[in-house]
Amino acid sequence: MSKIAVIGTGYVGLTTSIGLASLGHQVVGYDVDPAKVEVLQAGKLPIHEPGLGEILGDVLKSGNLKTTSVLSEAVTDADFIFTCVPTPQDEDGSADLSYVISASTAMKDFLKAGAVVVTKSTVPVGSAQIVEDAIGRSDVEVASNPEFLREGAAVYDFQNPDRIVVGARSNEVAQSVMDLYSKIDCPKVLTSQATAELIKYASNSFLAIKLSYVNDIAALCEAVGADSHEVLHGMGLDTRIGNRFLEPGPGWGGSCFPKDTKALESIANSFGIELPLITTAIASNEAAHKRVADRVMNSLGGSLVGKTIAVFGLTFKANTDDTRESPSIAVIERLIGRGGKVVAFDPMVSDYKLAGLTVAASPAEAASGADALVVLTEWAEFKSIDAKEILAAMSGNVVVDTRKVLDQSVWTEAGANFPTNPTTKAV
Ligand SMILES: NC(=O)c1ccc[n+]([C@@H]2O[C@H](COP(=O)([O-])OP(=O)(O)OC[C@H]3O[C@@H](n4cnc5c(N)ncnc54)[C@H](O)[C@@H]3O)[C@@H](O)[C@H]2O)c1
Repeated sequence: MSKIAVIGTGYVGLTTSIGLASLGHQVVGYDVDPAKVEVLQAGKLPIHEPGLGEILGDVLKSGNLKTTSVLSEAVTDADFIFTCVPTPQDEDGSADLSYVISASTAMKDFLKAGAVVVTKSTVPVGSAQIVEDAIGRSDVEVASNPEFLREGAAVYDFQNPDRIVVGARSNEVAQSVMDLYSKIDCPKVLTSQATAELIKYASNSFLAIKLSYVNDIAALCEAVGADSHEVLHGMGLDTRIGNRFLEPGPGWGGSCFPKDTKALESIANSFGIELPLITTAIASNEAAHKRVADRVMNSLGGSLVGKTIAVFGLTFKANTDDTRESPSIAVIERLIGRGGKVVAFDPMVSDYKLAGLTVAASPAEAASGADALVVLTEWAEFKSIDAKEILAAMSGNVVVDTRKVLDQSVWTEAGANFPTNPTTKAV
């Protein structure tokens, strides 16, 4: 069993710390935010991630996980140091590496000879060299181990990954990192740093393109009067396409796809390569947000001025509390931009600062006096919301369900009007 430090205890760092500790390693999680460390030391999670809290309790009890806000305590003894800090989008679309560089610089004097610094943050090709330069120690190795977890399913994904990828300058170093996961049975890819870095961006961008395509096809289905779910189901039965990630929605978002597609575009451009599919997928996604706002506006007589819209769902997907780059917020911004007032309910969000948006404490409170209801996140609990109660609280009856979570026949019977696209033609 190895001694491991994890730098950054956000969505990725926490899952990594708790997951590696549950495999039997001695892990110390470090974060610059002492408030996060205090919450963890009290045995609580600073984020919502199903199942992670239970394992946190176990690994704290076993002593396999410790947390600290003192960097040297985490790093000095560690054989492996996983960097899980943010890599947000910079102004020009490229990945901002400043957190990775400052974390690497801060740890360099505490590292023991032979330590391996493993980048888990999503970083562009060439970042391993940047980390090596920031550390500036010939007795320390640098590896890349990109993370593929899905928020809301992070525990399952840690324990049952589709693959683990490790890139390093030498096979021995890559293998030493891979050995940390020896208890996990899955395809394991040992490769170079650049390849590991690119596998992550290529995967996320492919998924974003897939979702943009699904949303475009769903819009076409509606225009021609076809059933998008049946079309996508029929497509997904082709094993070359596969039936996962084929659900239409209000557009994709979250803390990764928007910045990672932009960053891959930026990486390609810096090498003189065009990636027109990615550029188009990003534009298609903006069109998807706009289509939802258009639908609501058209069904309310062509203007949102003076209208109140109830929204169910603020997080970028169900089973997380993460609202970063949420498509729900992108749609809400458009509704507000067109003069509407939005009152939203989300099981995991009690506050969100946006002029024109109020966060309600219950679905009925959000619906009170609303002209229309828009469902933007696929929370399972929305399925059991009482249609009659919500429609009685609303002043209008328009319901736009972008995630198809409501039982349309039950809601229609209760008086809901699910508007179709005005351009729909029966063919
Ligand atoms: N969230 C995901 O679903 C996901 C999945 C795969 C990969 N990633 C990638 O993983 C990285 C981290 O993402 P995240 O969602 O966990 O971010 P996050 O914002 O949830 O967590 C980052 C943490 O790092 C801490 N931090 C910042 N600077 C630090 C420093 N110098 N030293 C120590 N701690 C520091 C922050 O306080 C925060 O707790 C990003 O590169 C992201 O693209 C994220």
